[in-house]
Amino acid sequence: MAGSKRGATTASENETPIGPTGRPYRGFPTPPKLDGHGPARIIALCNQKGGVGKTTTTINLAASLAGYGRKVLAVDFDPQGALSAGLGIQTHDIPTIYDLLLDSKRDPYEVVVASRVENLDVIPANIDLSAAEVHLVNEVAREQTLARALRKVAADYDVILIDCQPSLGLLTVNALTASHGVIIPLECEFFALRGVAMLIETIDKVRDRLNPTIALDGVLATMYDARTLHSREVLERVVDAFGDDVLETVIGRTVKFPDASVSGMPITEFAPEHAAAQAYLRLARELVARGAVA
Ligand SMILES: Nc1ncnc2c1ncn2[C@@H]1O[C@H](COP(=O)(O)OP(=O)(O)O)[C@@H](O)[C@H]1O
Ligand SMILES: [Mg+2]
Repeated sequence: MAGSKRGATTASENETPIGPTGRPYRGFPTPPKLDGHGPARIIALCNQKGGVGKTTTTINLAASLAGYGRKVLAVDFDPQGALSAGLGIQTHDIPTIYDLLLDSKRDPYEVVVASRVENLDVIPANIDLSAAEVHLVNEVAREQTLARALRKVAADYDVILIDCQPSLGLLTVNALTASHGVIIPLECEFFALRGVAMLIETIDKVRDRLNPTIALDGVLATMYDARTLHSREVLERVVDAFGDDVLETVIGRTVKFPDASVSGMPITEFAPEHAAAQAYLRLARELVARGAVA
């Protein structure tokens, strides 16, 4: 079904098509090699709605950037632990982000795990993290706990991606406070924009009170199906609302993603030639071209 994706993300070079977001479709150059690594730019993948592609995007963007030679740390910040699972990491008997949040003396490197993808490390999470908010509420500077923890490892990475949980609670505020930028994945479905105003409000509040320089790095349309009028209309509305903040790269809907997560691999490793893998590689190139990533 959705495996045969059409639309601008697969357009051939000898056309000059308009991309799905209404701008001319362009390629982005392969990112140049870096001379050294770090300090990391930290990006939160954030939307309080579940099932919009936060985790899928974190995994596959992380793997794509790692493939371009960037040193990447992916932080699982959702008690569901889907990012950890999607990268094949078992979390029941290892230290996780929860241990790091609760013990400021803890060496963050005890919590960092290498993934099977070269250049990609992970700070895993499991259900323990669901108790973190309760513990943090009474802490001094409770919103800065994650920022403090990541500061110690940021020098070793070019980019840190934080996979947020579907809520606007204290954990997400911690992620936004720790981040230089935020990417908002939006599913091209009914009600895609519902709740986004509240998310933007939360980002604005964090900018106002905790993290004056946080930038909106982009709105990413996911699960786009060029064959349906509905998908195209939703994307049009998203572009009306966010203009050039909508990333030119759009992620198509495909069953390859569920398949890849079951395999515990990013799609860029599971099916590197697939249009969906190519879309995430293009997203990585676009973010480098935009200056969101080194
Ligand atoms: N582009 C896509 N096409 C089809 N299915 C997708 C796509 N992106 C993600 N999915 C699937 O949708 C579900 C929700 O995605 P996920 O990344 O976990 O969202 P979130 O982290 O926002 O809750 C998962 O089962 C995932 O495999
Ligand atoms: Mg998720």
